[in-house]
Amino acid sequence: MVVQINSAGLLGMNAYSVTVEVDFLRALPAFDIVGLPDAAVKESRDRVRYAIKNCGYQFPESRVTVNLAPADVKKAGPMYDLPISLGILIGTGQVACSVEEDLFLGELSLGGEIREVTGVLPMVIYAKQQHYKRVFVPFGNGAEASVVDGIEVYPIQHLNQVISFLEGKISLEPARFVPSLHQDTDFLPDFSEVKGQENAKRGLEIAAAGGHNALLIGPPGAGKSMLAKRMPSILPDMSFEESIEATKIHSVAGLLDPEHPLVTARPFRAPHHTVSPAGLSGGGMIPRPGEISLAHHGVLFLDELPEFSRAAMEVLRQPMEDGKVTISRVNGSLTYPCSIMVIAAMNPCPCGYFGHPTRACTCSSERVAKYLSRVSGPLLDRLDLHIDVMPVEFRQITSTRPAESSAEIRGRVNEARKLQQERFSGSGISSNARITPGRLQEFCPMEKSARDLLQNAFDRMGLSARGYERIVKVARTIADLDHQEVIGPQHIAEAIQYRSLDRKYWYRQK
Ligand SMILES: Nc1ncnc2c1ncn2[C@@H]1O[C@H](COP(=O)(O)OP(=O)(O)O)[C@@H](O)[C@H]1O
Ligand SMILES: [Mg+2]
Repeated sequence: MVVQINSAGLLGMNAYSVTVEVDFLRALPAFDIVGLPDAAVKESRDRVRYAIKNCGYQFPESRVTVNLAPADVKKAGPMYDLPISLGILIGTGQVACSVEEDLFLGELSLGGEIREVTGVLPMVIYAKQQHYKRVFVPFGNGAEASVVDGIEVYPIQHLNQVISFLEGKISLEPARFVPSLHQDTDFLPDFSEVKGQENAKRGLEIAAAGGHNALLIGPPGAGKSMLAKRMPSILPDMSFEESIEATKIHSVAGLLDPEHPLVTARPFRAPHHTVSPAGLSGGGMIPRPGEISLAHHGVLFLDELPEFSRAAMEVLRQPMEDGKVTISRVNGSLTYPCSIMVIAAMNPCPCGYFGHPTRACTCSSERVAKYLSRVSGPLLDRLDLHIDVMPVEFRQITSTRPAESSAEIRGRVNEARKLQQERFSGSGISSNARITPGRLQEFCPMEKSARDLLQNAFDRMGLSARGYERIVKVARTIADLDHQEVIGPQHIAEAIQYRSLDRKYWYRQK
């Protein structure tokens, strides 16, 4: 007889159905699993065999073949231990129950304990879409799985426990979760601690309000890292959908906190500059989302930008534009979402003092040029706001006047986002930064004088089409912060100012 148990697999963020088929033949005892990568098969076979014995059952004295259908997709991960064991126990008549409406996920220890696996949230969402009645998940994944309503989620600790439940010998309560979007921002570093730097703060407020990328450039000790690390405190609230999307990625990466299974604060990822291209983009034997996807709906902070490898910077370009990253693999490709804001920080030269108001730079002009050229033109172009961060003066540092708090800034950011939500309702666009070229005119109406100013700057600054679009989108956000539907010349003028720094540093007149 052939027994079938329902399970699921993941390709990128997309779950698909996996049927565990167990077949028994009267032949010399053997145990084969097809449909898993070679190394994983061996480990899974051992765990299943021992777990069955250690739970007090017999491992069959026949030829057992497990097929994980569809067989042509190599499945990753150890989550099939549980469904395979149940298939064997049901097929040999040692356990009597019906499981047609159930889906099972879980790794086993040799003793039969059920261990956590990654990617449970997207698989439970899938199980619900497929109208399964119940889903059985490892206890450690119970919190994230319970985020999904409309399906009974049973977090389980042991193979014996799930068997007793399936046979009706014990009762279990399905997990319940009351989603809370409350975000505790009190413990975050606050902008009020940064003295002066009004320009830089304004730039970061605009970035947060419209989802724009920003580059902070200036000498060491000017406060670039300090400013960037305060971004989380002014990022706009997350919608429930955004929360679920971000949680799914953290689930696949195995990075969810069981105490707070739902990601409710926009992610802030700050990979070190030694990060590999794959560490940024994701991938690997058992595919995992990279830093850019872990930052989905939040911020990717790249401190000391020129120190990142050329290859790492190249990897960023397309995903920054597309909001998704595609990873090629031997057997097809997979995609992870990455709708992110990039905030980068850098010194303008190796010694750090090029362009400093009072200190002399000791680098030769070739060295400066070489250092700056590590950031490629196309990447620079994608950083919408270039913010000059000059060191604050002594009187500002010693000033006792309290600076504006992050809560106040965040209030304005949230208001500007609300305007965007109304504007983009039903269009699939999430923020001003993500306006598609075809809809730029429609969403960015402009006064005539604003258009003239832009035309003038376009000619004078030799802007590219991309540069032009970016200025318009940033001006859109500045107008939103100003509660104006039509973009005025003052909004365009401010937006242009954030594109003039590449002239100070990169494209200097010799
Ligand atoms: N505007 C400022 N207000 C308060 N402290 C500052 C300011 N700028 C710099 N500092 C102090 O100097 C330190 C170094 O700043 P940092 O952000 O690391 O500089 P950078 O990244 O530009 O090299 C900060 O940790 C902070 O203590
Ligand atoms: Mg720094």
